[in-house]
Amino acid sequence: MIRVGVVGYGTIGQVHCEALQEVPGCQLVAVADVDPEARARAQRDYGVVAAESMEAMLDAAEVDLIDICVPTHLHEAMMVQAMEADKHIFCEKPLARSLEEGRRLVELAKGYRKKIGIGHVVRFTPAYRGIRRSVEQGEVGRIGVVRTFRGGSQFPEGWQDWFANFNLSGGVILDLMIHDLDYCRWLFGDVERVYAKSTCGRTEVRLEHAMAVLRFKSGVIAHLEASWTNYPGQFYTAVEVAGKDGLITFDSRKSSPLAAMTVPGVSAQAGAVAANPYALELQDMVEAITEDRQPLVTVEDAFGALEIALAAVESARTGRVVEI
Ligand SMILES: NC(=O)c1ccc[n+]([C@@H]2O[C@H](COP(=O)([O-])OP(=O)(O)OC[C@H]3O[C@@H](n4cnc5c(N)ncnc54)[C@H](O)[C@@H]3O)[C@@H](O)[C@H]2O)c1
Repeated sequence: MIRVGVVGYGTIGQVHCEALQEVPGCQLVAVADVDPEARARAQRDYGVVAAESMEAMLDAAEVDLIDICVPTHLHEAMMVQAMEADKHIFCEKPLARSLEEGRRLVELAKGYRKKIGIGHVVRFTPAYRGIRRSVEQGEVGRIGVVRTFRGGSQFPEGWQDWFANFNLSGGVILDLMIHDLDYCRWLFGDVERVYAKSTCGRTEVRLEHAMAVLRFKSGVIAHLEASWTNYPGQFYTAVEVAGKDGLITFDSRKSSPLAAMTVPGVSAQAGAVAANPYALELQDMVEAITEDRQPLVTVEDAFGALEIALAAVESARTGRVVEI
């Protein structure tokens, strides 16, 4: 039984704790949070040890896997601390706030004996997995162009309003678009160049909207859009993958969200869209430990996504194309 301690019981920490209840072979044994109200909530919700820091949590409970769910700018320090404690680590995306922090983590992870997985959850979302399977099986032929969208809900409420501080969150590109950057990189490999536009600095930070165009080494072109604009309606995500023989589309707002349309003579299947991707990513992490293998999303994978996201931030800031 893998004993899990979750650090940070905010929005995503609560989602992880709930998801862990569905994962066989593990048990939530402790939570750490600096906020006394969050600690009281965790204790009430799960009856587990709720400590004020990772250090105090490790003193109070036997933990095998530390699940880091604190704001982005704290990821590096927390991961280093968890490595010093010689624990398995699962950390929310993005890997880190800066390239330097990310590089340090890549170096540290190379010599680390325990497992480290990063929460790029879109890879575990059934519809997105289904699209990847269709692409790999060549159902719509050679891929030319991809388009993704993510956003549409209210600006995220975070601890001490950290999302609204660009230096801490990295804005909508580092926080939201990075999901699709990782996904596209998983499908199409390395990115060559990035051009991005964002309202960052020109509107109130809570209204940031960003677009990026990527060219992959494979020749695929992707257009990604992410939004914190606060228009009425729910959070949604969408994908279009256009190939030589057809088009795969996904729109989470539709009652039949996933569709594949092909030219005559080619058949394609739309996959399932149910299941909890947070439980699936944590299950992969637990199995990686018990099976002594790498989790699906490694530190190097997450660094790849971080590098593209920060290139997009840089392009949006300077107005120039950024080569990777
Ligand atoms: N994968 C996803 O779908 C997804 C969704 C939301 C957030 N995230 C990521 O998860 C991370 C957290 O985001 P959130 O929305 O949960 O933020 P949040 O502000 O809601 O929660 C953060 C929690 O961390 C606690 N905290 C702060 N400093 C701490 C410390 N030193 N020790 C212990 N606890 C501390 C806060 O009190 C708060 O409860 C971010 O990196 C974000 O990008 C991922």
